[in-house]
Amino acid sequence: MILDGYGKYSIIGGNRLYGELSISGAKNSAVAVIAAAMTVNGLCHIDNMPQVRDVEILLQILQQLGAEIDVIGDGDYMIDCRNIDPDAAIDQELYGQLRASYYVLGALLGRFGHARVAMPGGCDFGTRPIDYHIKGFEALGAEVDIGGGWIDANAVDGLRGTRILLDYPSVGATINIILAAIYAEGLTIIENAAMEPHIVDFANCLNAMGAEVRGAGTNSIRIYGVNELRGGSYTIVPDQIEAGTYIALVAGTGGDVIVRDVIPRHLVCITSKLSEMGVEIEDLGDAVRVRREGRPIRRANVMTGPYPGFPTDMQPQVATLLTLARGTSFVTETVWDSRFQYVDQLQRMGAKITTDARTAVIEGVGRLKAASIAATDLRSGAAMVIAGLCADGTTLLDNIWHIERGYGNIIAKLGEIGADITRVVDAPRNLIELRTHRESVA
Ligand code: EPZ
Repeated sequence: MILDGYGKYSIIGGNRLYGELSISGAKNSAVAVIAAAMTVNGLCHIDNMPQVRDVEILLQILQQLGAEIDVIGDGDYMIDCRNIDPDAAIDQELYGQLRASYYVLGALLGRFGHARVAMPGGCDFGTRPIDYHIKGFEALGAEVDIGGGWIDANAVDGLRGTRILLDYPSVGATINIILAAIYAEGLTIIENAAMEPHIVDFANCLNAMGAEVRGAGTNSIRIYGVNELRGGSYTIVPDQIEAGTYIALVAGTGGDVIVRDVIPRHLVCITSKLSEMGVEIEDLGDAVRVRREGRPIRRANVMTGPYPGFPTDMQPQVATLLTLARGTSFVTETVWDSRFQYVDQLQRMGAKITTDARTAVIEGVGRLKAASIAATDLRSGAAMVIAGLCADGTTLLDNIWHIERGYGNIIAKLGEIGADITRVVDAPRNLIELRTHRESVA
C-alpha cells in the first residue's frame, strides 16, 4: 500500500539500531522507466518498482493518457501503452506534483512527434529551469512553446539525430533527450551526459525493449534511432539514495545493521565519505554491513557534485550527521541553488549551523534535542527522521508527505531494526496513534 502522507511521525530518539532491512527499487530510475514504457508499442513488464507516491502519480498520468496498468504483485507491473493518446486531457495538477512529469514530454514527442504537458513540480530548491531539455528537443528538430503553465513541443518534419552538448550533466535533460531521440532518424549523441546509476538503468530498460542506446554511464551517450520498441521485461535497480539514507541513519544512531538488496559500487560515493567520518562499512556483495559502536562521528567536509561525486540527494542526511560530530565541518552544495532550507529545523533541535548561499558551516554539538519540526522537501524530510532518531526525547515531524514521495514502507523498515517511530494524525483534541512500529512489522 502506498501511504498518503497524512499526519506526522512521532520519533523517540536514542535507540541503537540492529538487524537487517531491504532496499526497494530506485525511485529516480522508476520514473524514467515508466516514461520509457510510454514509448513502447507493446507490453512492458516492470519489476521492483518502489511503492512511493511519485511512482503512483506518474502511473496515474499514464492511465489518463490511456495506458492499461496491471499490478501483478508488490512492485510488479504490466504496463501497456499501445493505445495511449498524446492529446488526452490530463489534470494539470498531477503534473505539478512531481518533477519527473517532464519525462512525459520527451516520451510523447519521441513517439508521436508532438506533446503538450503542464510545467512540472517537485522539491523546491530555488530555480529549477528546464532549458537544457528544451534546447535538446529543438536541436532534434522540434519547436517548443511555453505559456500559461503548459509546454508544447511539435516536430512537424519529424526528429533527426544530432550532436547535443549539455552545459551541465543534467539527469533530467539526459533522460528526456534520450526519450525524444529513440525514434529520431539517424544517430543522436549527447555529450557531457549525466552518468548516475539511474541513467544506466533507464538505458538498460530501453535496450531490453528494443532501443539502441549505447555508452550510458559515460559522459557520451549515443542513441541510434529505431523504428519500433517491441516491449519486454525489466527489473529496476536498488535505490542508491534510499540505501545511503538508511546507512547514514545507522551511522547516526549507532548499532550494527545489514542493508540488503543494494549495489555497493553505486554507494561508494556515499560510503567513502561515511568511512572518513568513522563509520565501519563492509561490502557483502549484494548488501552492506554498517557499524558504529562507541566511536564518535568525525568531522568532514562534503561537496556535492554529479555522479560519481557526492550526491546532492544525500547532502541533508550527511549534514545532519555532522551536527553530531566533533569539530567543524563544511558542506558545500554545488548542484542546487537553495538546498539548505532544512537548517532552521535542525537549529530548533540545538544544531549549530550557519549558511550562505552554497555552504553550511556545521559546528558539531554531540547530541540533538527533540523538537517539533517539519520536512521541507523529500531528502531533508529523511534527514529529519535521522535527526529525530538521534535526538534526546520525542520529536514530532510534520509534512511527512514529502518523505513518502520517495521512501516506501519507511515505518515498517525502521521498525525492523528497532527504531521507535510511529505515525500519528492530528485530531481536533488529541493525537490519534495509527500504528506503532511493532504493529507495522507484525
Ligand atoms: C534529478 O533531478 C533528480 N530527480 C533529483 O533528485 C536530483 O537532486 C538531481 O537529479 C541531481 O542529481 C529525478 O531524477 C526525478 P538535474 P533533475 O537536471 O533531473 C540545472 C530527489 O530527491 N539545470 O540534474 O531535475 C539545475 O537547476 C530528487 O530524488 C538547468 O540549469 O536535476 C541544477 O542546478 C530531488 N537547466 C542542475 O542543472 C536544465 O534544463 C542539475 O539538475 C536542467 C537542469
